[in-house]
Amino acid sequence: MFDQNLNSEPAIAIYQLNHFFGTGALRKQALFDINLEIQAGEIVIMTGPSGSGKTTLLTLMGGLRSAQIGSLKILGQEICGANKHQLTQLRRNIGYIFQAHNLMTFLTAKENVRMSLELHEQYLAGDPNAKAEEMLTSVGLEERMDYYPESLSGGQRQRVAIARALVSHPKIVLADEPTAALDKKSGRDVVELMQKLAKQQGCTILLVTHDNRILDIADRIIYMEDGKLVSDGVDVAMKVK
Ligand SMILES: Nc1ncnc2c1ncn2[C@@H]1O[C@H](COP(=O)(O)OP(=O)(O)OP(=O)(O)O)[C@@H](O)[C@H]1O
Ligand SMILES: [Mg+2]
Repeated sequence: MFDQNLNSEPAIAIYQLNHFFGTGALRKQALFDINLEIQAGEIVIMTGPSGSGKTTLLTLMGGLRSAQIGSLKILGQEICGANKHQLTQLRRNIGYIFQAHNLMTFLTAKENVRMSLELHEQYLAGDPNAKAEEMLTSVGLEERMDYYPESLSGGQRQRVAIARALVSHPKIVLADEPTAALDKKSGRDVVELMQKLAKQQGCTILLVTHDNRILDIADRIIYMEDGKLVSDGVDVAMKVK
């Protein structure tokens, strides 16, 4: 269903998207007339003040909440008004990395990564253990595969989260402040790793951050304010200076 013509179709295409929370007197608009296209293979950073709607937009794109008004196409598929089954299908093509890494505390690093593979039928035939080990090695955790999250540092946990998000080679990775809990050096390492793996796999990345020090990894920076996309396509070189 998500076959994509990489040459022409944007990975993400949003047209006049609006989003409201609540109903009746409590109904409040969180997103206003969002228009955005992200091409396959692009790395885009989204920034903007707290409460401006970044997470809301990311969760709509990821099918974690349903979009109602406007058009939101992910990998060519319209998901505005999509049903639960369609959203579940969509989520299989997306890797998520959140600020709080959301690792399963009762599973080891390797088991956390392997679990993500087990959601994908096409990987059941292979050796999920070997795949998980290979991915953890590529994020520098070959010595820590059998550790539980509580015995890992913040940066190591975030690297497990990256391994988990990328092990199934998703076409799109959505990352919501993946470096927020990390020091400068670990934060930088984590995004450079995401960048490297994404380029290898040819996947599209949308990364929300407040961290000015990582803006230079992006092909493009977009800015949200009060539920609106106020700038799209700011020249990365200018912004970083
Ligand atoms: N589940 C919800 N119910 C009602 N309002 C919500 C809900 N989630 C978010 N909002 C509101 O929508 C607006 C945008 O929130 P959102 O979480 O998208 O902001 P953000 O840009 O991610 O902020 P931050 O940088 O602090 O993470 C805020 O005013 C928030 O209060
Ligand atoms: Mg947020």
